[in-house]
Amino acid sequence: MDERKKRIFSGIQPSGELTLGSYMGAIKNWVALQEEYDCLYCIVDMHAITVRQDPALLRRRSVNQLAQYIACGLDPEKNIMFIQSHVPQHAELAWVLGCYTQFGELSRMTQFKMKSQQHADNITAGLFTYPVLMAADILLYQADLVPVGEDQRQHVELTRDIAQRFNGVYSDTFTLPEAFIPKMGARVMSLDDPSTKMSKSLPDGCVNLMDAPEVIMKKFKRAVTDCDTAVKFDKENKPGISNLLTIYCAATGKTMDQAEQDFAGQGYGVFKPAVGEAVVELLRPIREESERIMADKAYLESVYRTGAERASYLANKTLSKVYRKVGFVGR
Ligand code: TRP
Repeated sequence: MDERKKRIFSGIQPSGELTLGSYMGAIKNWVALQEEYDCLYCIVDMHAITVRQDPALLRRRSVNQLAQYIACGLDPEKNIMFIQSHVPQHAELAWVLGCYTQFGELSRMTQFKMKSQQHADNITAGLFTYPVLMAADILLYQADLVPVGEDQRQHVELTRDIAQRFNGVYSDTFTLPEAFIPKMGARVMSLDDPSTKMSKSLPDGCVNLMDAPEVIMKKFKRAVTDCDTAVKFDKENKPGISNLLTIYCAATGKTMDQAEQDFAGQGYGVFKPAVGEAVVELLRPIREESERIMADKAYLESVYRTGAERASYLANKTLSKVYRKVGFVGR
């Protein structure tokens, strides 16, 4: 890897299907970054088991997610693309970092508070220490920038705090990472409740990358709107229409002004299917390419093997430094 380029690390949990939200809000952005940065894009299966998963489904989703990353335009030659559990240094560094993280800090994590309400019958130590594993993901590779959604900012801040603390005790060891939240990244909201983010946990309002065209059309035709009829961007008063306009612009590359002009004088009955069609056309090549790659098991295997080897090489450099600094005996 070119040492002068800034390094990026990001990951998505294979805990569900990739969605239009993950594409427009994250992966599309990753594709743009791959030219300018040294990027590692991970499938964070170890994070996924912080809540109960079906083993066969988790395995299938992890591999399919890799195929979908590639179909979205991420190039395995340009980026290090790998599965988290293939690089044991993540778990090893997470243990050490956990010893430099306060119980109180983890207790303050908003996502932990939310998830422990959702999974009240299964609040595991793993769910609690999840941010420490995420810190290990980032710090292992000395990442400068971490592209994430607003909901992950607190975890990246914690990562910085842990890194700073460790550096303070043992001299410079970790690069201090920054959250990299794209200003223009389309934040896609749920189609049936535009006050919440589009997510696999709300399946009705959520379009999956692999959805068939009829399914996509049905979801858009059912999308919630509001009682007047104008196709105008107004986030406060017309959140449903504004969300559809945002999706339309992201799918077609048009500006908001152009989009509003396209539908001037037309009602929602024309607008909603038009957004659906734009999304169908956007996702068609991605779905077809994903299907082709998913069928090629040998290719996928070679991609994740190579990815894990390259990641492991970098991870070892950091981990051996850390082990030496904390006082472990060298092997
Ligand atoms: N916690 C992230 C999420 O749920 C996923 C994740 C795990 C991640 N490790 C990461 C994101 C490291 C960025 C960097 O969205």
